[in-house]
Amino acid sequence: MRAVEFQEYGGPEVLRVVEAEVPEPGPGQVSIDVAYVGVNFADLKARSEGYRVPSLPFRPGLEVSGRIRAVGADVEGLEVGQEVAALTEGGAYAEVTVADAVTVFPLPEGVDLRTGATLPTVVPTAYALLHTVGRLQPGETVLVQGAAGGVGTVLGQLAKAAGAGAVYGVVSAEAKAKYALDHGYDEVFVGSFAQEVRVATGGRGVDLALDPVGGETLRGSLASLAPFGRLVSFGNASSAEPWTVGQPELYPTGLSVAGFSILGLAKTAPAALREIAERAFRTVVDGTVSLPVTAEFGLAEAEEAHRLMGTRSSTGKLLLRVAG
Ligand SMILES: NC(=O)c1ccc[n+]([C@@H]2O[C@H](COP(=O)([O-])OP(=O)(O)OC[C@H]3O[C@@H](n4cnc5c(N)ncnc54)[C@H](OP(=O)(O)O)[C@@H]3O)[C@@H](O)[C@H]2O)c1
Repeated sequence: MRAVEFQEYGGPEVLRVVEAEVPEPGPGQVSIDVAYVGVNFADLKARSEGYRVPSLPFRPGLEVSGRIRAVGADVEGLEVGQEVAALTEGGAYAEVTVADAVTVFPLPEGVDLRTGATLPTVVPTAYALLHTVGRLQPGETVLVQGAAGGVGTVLGQLAKAAGAGAVYGVVSAEAKAKYALDHGYDEVFVGSFAQEVRVATGGRGVDLALDPVGGETLRGSLASLAPFGRLVSFGNASSAEPWTVGQPELYPTGLSVAGFSILGLAKTAPAALREIAERAFRTVVDGTVSLPVTAEFGLAEAEEAHRLMGTRSSTGKLLLRVAG
C-alpha cells in the first residue's frame, strides 16, 4: 500500500510517498481502508519538530474516515465493511491504518465519508474546550485565537449555539477575519487583540479565552480575562517555551487556567472522550456546526496541504483524499 512518511524533521518537502506493509489490527484495534484523512496542525508540528513522534521514519495523520477492513481480538460492536470515522495515534496518511476501537465511531446518520474525516479531532476538541473544560454559561463572552482554522471554525458556531453573549476571534489576516465572521464570530481582530478586547467588552474582559498559540499570545489571552475568567490552553502553535502561571496572575481577580489534549484524553480516559465525541458529533448531524472543507489534496500531495496550512493562509478544514 501507499503511505506518506518522513525520515527527518523539516519543511513540507520531507514528506515522501512510500510503499509499506498493510498494517494488521492488534487486540482492541481495527484496521481501516482509508477514504479521507483530516490534516491537523499537529501533523505539521510532528513533521517540523517531532511533536508526539516516538521514532523515525514516522507516518503522520490523526483522523480518518473509511471502511473497516479487519477487526482485531476483543473488539465488540464494529464489523468489517462498516463506514467509520476514527481518531488515530499517527499513521493515518496511508491507504490502510489501524485505530483503537474505543476511538472508532460509526459514521453518524446522514454524514458521508468526506465530512466524516473532518470530525474526529476538531469537533470533540471544540466541544470539550467550550463545555467540558471551559464550562461556558449562557451570556458569557468568549475569545478564540486562530478563529478561522479547523478548531476555530467549530468554536465560533458552537459558542454561539451555546448562548454566548459575544464571541470574539483573533486571526492573522483580513481574509480570515471575513471567514470567521461568517462562522459564528461577532467580532474578529486581526493581529493585535488585547486593547481591542478591552474596548469591545467595555473594559471588563472576557469570561473564557481559548488559546492554541502559547507564548506572548497566551499571556495576552490571560490578560484579557474578566474577573473569575477561565483560560484554556490547547496548543503551542508559536513553538514558545512551555508556559507557567502563578499566584501573581491568578489571585487578584480569581482567574483559572486549564489545559486540554484530545490525544491525552484518548489515552487516559477514552470513555470520557467517547461521550464528548458522541455529543459533539450530534451538533454536526443537527446542523448546529458545519466545518467547510476548503481544500482537498491527493495522498501524494500531502506536501502541498502542509505548505498551505504552514503559511497560515488556510481556513476551515483541509483533507487528503485517499479513496473517496
Ligand atoms: N489540544 C487539543 O486537543 C487540540 C486538538 C486539535 C487542535 N489543537 C490545536 O489547535 C490549533 C488549531 O489546530 P487545527 O488543526 O484546527 O489547525 P488550523 O487552525 O486549521 O491551522 C493552524 C492555526 O494556527 C494559527 N497560528 C497561530 N500562530 C501561529 C504560528 N505562529 N504559526 C502557524 N500557525 C499559527 C493559525 O491562525 P492565524 O494564522 O489566523 O493566527 C491557524 O488557524 C493548533 O494549535 C493545534 O495544535 C489542539
